Amino acid sequence: MTDHLSDLFAFLRIPSVSTDSARRADLRQCASWLADKFTAIGLTAQIHQTPGHPIVSARNRRRADRRTVLIYGHYDVQPVDPLTLWRGDPFEPTLSADGVITARGATDNKGQILAHILGVAETIAADGDLPLNIIFLVEGEEEIGSPHLAAFLREHRDELACDIIAISDTGMIEPNRGTLTYGLRGIACLELTVSGPDKDLHSGIYGGAVANPLTVISRLVATLHDAAGHVTISGFYDDVAPLEPWERAAWAKLPMRDTDLLKLTGAPALAPEQGYTALECAWGRPTAELNGLYGGYQGEGSKTVIPAEAHAKISFRLVPDQDPIKILSLAEQHCRKHCPPGVTLTVTRGHSGAAYRLDPDTAFGRAAQRALTLAFPGKTPALVREGGSIPIVSDFKKILGADTLLLGLALPDARIHSPNETFTVENFEGGIRLNKILLRELARA
Ligand code: BES
Ligand code: ZN
Repeated sequence: MTDHLSDLFAFLRIPSVSTDSARRADLRQCASWLADKFTAIGLTAQIHQTPGHPIVSARNRRRADRRTVLIYGHYDVQPVDPLTLWRGDPFEPTLSADGVITARGATDNKGQILAHILGVAETIAADGDLPLNIIFLVEGEEEIGSPHLAAFLREHRDELACDIIAISDTGMIEPNRGTLTYGLRGIACLELTVSGPDKDLHSGIYGGAVANPLTVISRLVATLHDAAGHVTISGFYDDVAPLEPWERAAWAKLPMRDTDLLKLTGAPALAPEQGYTALECAWGRPTAELNGLYGGYQGEGSKTVIPAEAHAKISFRLVPDQDPIKILSLAEQHCRKHCPPGVTLTVTRGHSGAAYRLDPDTAFGRAAQRALTLAFPGKTPALVREGGSIPIVSDFKKILGADTLLLGLALPDARIHSPNETFTVENFEGGIRLNKILLRELARA
């Protein structure tokens, strides 16, 4: 096994699931693994404690006569559930004969951030220095909405001042085709609790006499969409930036068709909002998604009960110009208006972050496109928007005033967030190559 691969495997073996409080020590260990790695390649590393999981930063000497690039990534990973669908231990990475690495975090984001780090490491090893001032910022809470990172940015604004930010945490449209993501959707999360009787009740003795919270919440979440798939929350679409005709035309030419989406999702049919293609819906339209709905008896057989409580977890994906906080209050108003009497509705707001959009034709955008062309020759880079969110990106712009270049290496079939997540050795090596070229091109831009 190459040194690059054994580094990646060591990183992947640390089960850094940020949402799992039983894993706190693993996240700490992952942060110190990174800090050691940064130190080993010749950078000065620091671990910053937060009320949640630590942030790791690393840098070379800041010289006034060169540009500063900040590279961001995350070392936390999504939960592995459902574990039974994994072919092996999610934290014991495997390498197949055709060069596919399988482990939780392989692509999202350990493989991709390590490609950045190793690209920098090889540049330092070859040239003795970098053509830029570099700042690495790797957090352990991206998958839970980066609750402590914006405050960290505000507190360390001066030390984090930079000309441009680069992130590999997005998709690559097809193997060996450099991909610049010029837009990300935003996100806003909400939890609903509908409470009824003060305990679970016998549904025969009391059924019909009191409202059933699980029925109420089901009807409530069903009011979020109409039959055409539009979100019915009043005002939801007010600020939505429309899709540009040029981008709709450009997306239609990308190698991501309905047949590809059907295959990737495994769904029996696509269900786009009326008037849009499925890809347009995923990249450029806002949505309301029910992520979880629970309450009542979940065990074997039947249990005749009126549950005391029912819960729904909802997230909204947002497009440019929608304000996440405004969307959360519109959603709360909608739910209160549609909740019938006889129950108590509690609305809890979760994390949120605005959508992001970048002009790919700035000097740095063009430098990124050049780097993508050089690293993945033979094909012009694809310019895409994506449906996923990296909430801190809009804060980078607001707090640090810097644009972000999203140069992703996640293949469409990488199964990020799903069982049996993969990363290819080809993309890992391609990412290291890309990062070496990127440093040079950004220094020149
Ligand atoms: N890497 C993803 C985001 C992503 C994936 C962007 C693919 C574009 C294409 C990131 O780690 C992620 O999953 N983000 C979460 C953020 C949320 C939990 C706040 C997301 O999008 O659900
Ligand atoms: Zn993720």
